[in-house]
Amino acid sequence: MLGKTAASGQIAEPRGIGDDHEVPRLPVSAAACSASGLEDLDQRRSVDGVVRECAQVPLSQDAAICVHEWSNSVSRWVLPGPCYNMPVMRPTDRDVVLRVEGLSLGGSGVAHLNGVEILVAGAAPQETVRARLTRPSRKGTQAQLIAVEDPSPVRVAPRCPHFGICGGCLWQHVDYAAQAQAKETIVAERLAPLGGGAALPVRPIVAMDDPWAFRNKMEFSFQPPHRLGLHQRGRWDEVIDVQTCFLPSQTVMEIVAAVRTFVVEHNLVCYNTRTHEGFLRHLVVREGRATGELMVAIVTAPGPFAQAHALADTLVAQHPQIASILWAINATHSDAVEVSESHVLHGRPFIFERLGRQTYKVGLLTFFQTNTAQAERMIDVVAEFAHLGGTERVLDLYCGVGTFALALSAQATEVIGVDASVASVEAARENAVLNGVSNATFQALEVGHLEGQLPPETRFDVVILDPPRAGAGARVMRTIVRLAPPRVVYVSCNPTTLAADLQELISANYAIEAIQPLDLFPHTYHVECVVGLRRISAG
Ligand SMILES: C[S@@+](CC[C@H](N)C(=O)[O-])C[C@H]1O[C@@H](n2cnc3c(N)ncnc32)[C@H](O)[C@@H]1O
Repeated sequence: MLGKTAASGQIAEPRGIGDDHEVPRLPVSAAACSASGLEDLDQRRSVDGVVRECAQVPLSQDAAICVHEWSNSVSRWVLPGPCYNMPVMRPTDRDVVLRVEGLSLGGSGVAHLNGVEILVAGAAPQETVRARLTRPSRKGTQAQLIAVEDPSPVRVAPRCPHFGICGGCLWQHVDYAAQAQAKETIVAERLAPLGGGAALPVRPIVAMDDPWAFRNKMEFSFQPPHRLGLHQRGRWDEVIDVQTCFLPSQTVMEIVAAVRTFVVEHNLVCYNTRTHEGFLRHLVVREGRATGELMVAIVTAPGPFAQAHALADTLVAQHPQIASILWAINATHSDAVEVSESHVLHGRPFIFERLGRQTYKVGLLTFFQTNTAQAERMIDVVAEFAHLGGTERVLDLYCGVGTFALALSAQATEVIGVDASVASVEAARENAVLNGVSNATFQALEVGHLEGQLPPETRFDVVILDPPRAGAGARVMRTIVRLAPPRVVYVSCNPTTLAADLQELISANYAIEAIQPLDLFPHTYHVECVVGLRRISAG
């Protein structure tokens, strides 16, 4: 029960709001709340009921937040977040002081005020900040960091001079060990509801030994007149002319500098994403960290590129280890690297990279894990959770270029990989040949269409799945349940969608045996997670 309504003349006492506020509460009648008909916070459930009770809870003398209870014919529940339809009144001359408790999955510091979660971008855990409340959004109530009053012991000086403006890193101001700890906590918190009150077996995160120069792929953008770099934080249409970056190797940054110099000297025209005019769009550099091979791709709009070979010659003269230089054409307005046509300017259209004992052929567009060192550790975890004894049939869903399928093939009778990308499946088949693997086959197929493609008696001992950030979704999870494998290994890059997908397995009598968070993206909030599950009944 949310509390007594304003109509009764008493001030409401909403759930989750503490008694430590210092300012009077502002009663508001349910009828005055304009939130009816909005969607739930996570937008999964639509709200077709009416607001029965509503209370404005003050955050300071000038700011309040709307908390209300909905009811409809199906359920009755409290929406603990802000009312999007009723703006928080902005404090005009007053800031709030907040104690930052941790870091959120979106990258902000997390604090609470009168029980309401406040997200403060740029804040570090365990510090006191002065912040100004801004409008609530679907990401939570946000506040702008005004000053750090009592700095966190884990606040550090960012290594990169572009930090704060560049969109590449959000957490360089936080000590790496604390970043890793925050990711472990995020995974534990997101998955906690699956335990039904019992603690889940979350292992300590596998963090990087050295959290710098780990990326094997970088995508840089051009912007007129001659900028070449990464996107400004929060801006799709502004590029920072990065002079340095500590995420790839320094060789990659030397290539960026050489391309920029060439572009300036030849007065090449860069693409304008607002007007869609211009020529040079992206520079993609891939580096085989285990092989030392480099791929450089210049992505342009359609049109003649008279200087293409001269640019390639310049780069090869400076970096003879470049194994591939491509000119790729993106004829669409999309700012993603979409390629309709490509020309080899030097070497071959792919490079080789190794993960453990396996060698992989990596093209410009093939999905490949971007952190070689941590991908190897992730493969080890997948192998451990799969418990293979040499006699099993394994299904690897969302297999990409065969990362897990090929690594595990020696411990199984048969491995079948499925991926929607025809290019990745072709690469996986070639990688099987390259590594002398004869018991792995690959199918180009939407995983959602898998069920109709499998004979009804098909059985697998282990199903591995590694979906994109959106997760696999209920339909795919139910297909896995119908296949009834004794073991499932779920590799995830998004703990939120992971939690929803795992719920389907738990409801079908699968038990979580172990959860292993891994950090593949230091200085960002991204966290990977491998979950091992076992079927505990015929389900
Ligand atoms: C996170 S990657 C994993 C790749 C691979 N497991 C690896 O580690 O390299 C996700 C993969 O899912 C594939 N994919 C995305 N949506 C898909 C779908 N609906 N059906 C099948 N594959 C899909 C992509 O092509 C991509 O290769």
